Amino acid sequence: MTSEPVPQGCWRALQEHCHQAGLLDMRLLFRDEPDRFSRFSVEAAGIFLDFSKNRINQETLGLLFELARTTQLDVWIERMFEGEKINHTEDRAVLHTALRRRSAAPLLVDGTDIIPQIRAVFERMGRFVQAIHSGSWRGCTGKPITDVVNIGIGGSDLGPRMVVEALSEHAVASIKSHFVANIDGTDLSRTLKVLDHESTLFVIASKTFTTQETMTNAHSARQWLLEKQGSSADIAKHFVAVSSNRTEVGAFGIDPLNMFEFWDWVGGRYSLWSAIGLSIALSVGMDTFECLLTGANAMDEHFRHAPFEKNLPVILALIGIWNRNYLGAETYAVLPYDQRLHRFPSYLQQLDMESNGKTVGLDGLPVAMKTGPVLWGEAGTNGQHAFYQLIHQGSDLVPVDFIAILEDESGFAEHRKILVANCFAQAEALMKGQTTEQALAEIQQTVARIRDPEVLARHKTFAGNKPSNMLLIDQLSPRNLGALIALYEHKIFTQGILWGINSFDQWGVELGKQLATGLLGEIDGQLRPERHDSSTNGLMRRFKASLG
Ligand code: F6P
Repeated sequence: MTSEPVPQGCWRALQEHCHQAGLLDMRLLFRDEPDRFSRFSVEAAGIFLDFSKNRINQETLGLLFELARTTQLDVWIERMFEGEKINHTEDRAVLHTALRRRSAAPLLVDGTDIIPQIRAVFERMGRFVQAIHSGSWRGCTGKPITDVVNIGIGGSDLGPRMVVEALSEHAVASIKSHFVANIDGTDLSRTLKVLDHESTLFVIASKTFTTQETMTNAHSARQWLLEKQGSSADIAKHFVAVSSNRTEVGAFGIDPLNMFEFWDWVGGRYSLWSAIGLSIALSVGMDTFECLLTGANAMDEHFRHAPFEKNLPVILALIGIWNRNYLGAETYAVLPYDQRLHRFPSYLQQLDMESNGKTVGLDGLPVAMKTGPVLWGEAGTNGQHAFYQLIHQGSDLVPVDFIAILEDESGFAEHRKILVANCFAQAEALMKGQTTEQALAEIQQTVARIRDPEVLARHKTFAGNKPSNMLLIDQLSPRNLGALIALYEHKIFTQGILWGINSFDQWGVELGKQLATGLLGEIDGQLRPERHDSSTNGLMRRFKASLG
């Protein structure tokens, strides 16, 4: 039997504080601290964060900042920005921030300055996007491109898809964007059904160019085009690749001239800033894509230079640690009150859970505490009518990040008032709750005849004291969206450093991939049936029987 590791140093001090502070009651904190909102809020790079509705006081924060300092977070931040190989299990630097650097100062990876390489790829992307938008790039029968299909999965899909959706009001009118990720043929067939092959461009987006789903979809898309048009020379007009694997791109049959490169120091889930953003640029134009990078860079500069006490990503990360490791939250919800951000939670799921879903520390030993929580969410107000019941009255503590965009750009300004009012109301309700006495008083005022008002009052009681952060953004501009994404990237990085894990590898997804390859070989009859467990054997028998 293994015994639970005992927390040390600051972790232990926080544990003691947690016991002393007990369940800090936010209602009392707000009553006793009239300036709580101004003391527990901070603003940077176009994002305002109110973190006053958390079960924290000044002492909690002080201990959390001390934890960040003793973990030498500042040193780790510099290591990342300066290109040290902090992804040690893959021996790679972590330099997605270099993609959005605005200065031309050299940045060396293995002795080579990567800044000119980045600029060269962006310039090629810009020329290509311009050629597509101006119609000077034409399909094999001379038609201009009207539809762009991004074929990719994970980081080669979720980021571009989320940004294209969020910025769709900025999209150029002549281009329609599509995304195909799932290996389920339905995803591809439904997309192809609405396309004219003569005016469709496929962007095959894959860092490795070996991902089973992406390569299968890419081969089927190529086959579709060949069946319609019949010549492999036509492929060059309709297929481009975004990858770090030149050899595999060539083997697929895509002209290296039609390949946009990125590098092993860009992690898949951090890659939307690289050439993986090509489908973003094709949708909204290269200038708008650059604005996205500028916004992210503003957050990078803030993260790198602001003191921890004013540092948005650091504060969000520390509060997340407090909720996870001391208040015992197993999950947390990200609830954007803006339809344009409805894909943001799914994007964040990969960013957070693939980064911090780890239990082995940098030293190869089990980590002493719980690491990345389950992240989930949905756009408000839709979620209010689905799962909020559990957040308000369920038995689990679910901390929430609310995100509200203040200015209306939909043309229905009245809707935004209702939207934002609902967002603030949810945060207030979670914090305040409602006592049984309050519920009873309300029942007595509003319900004419009820047999047992005390029982009903108990059902209408809200415990309250549920933590939430509120992020406010004036407009969902490309710049502000860039800053918002970078905020979460750095939050997740900070938590990884404090937990002592490598946030940049993802070995946990490999085993399933290997087993799937073996099972596929068995299904196709190329491999002898293996002796699996009885469940897998039984499931395989049923599937094979269905194949006839
Ligand atoms: O399987 C997980 C993963 O490796 C992600 O980390 C990555 O974003 C995704 O697959 C897609 O990888 P690629 O861009 O190499 O196709």
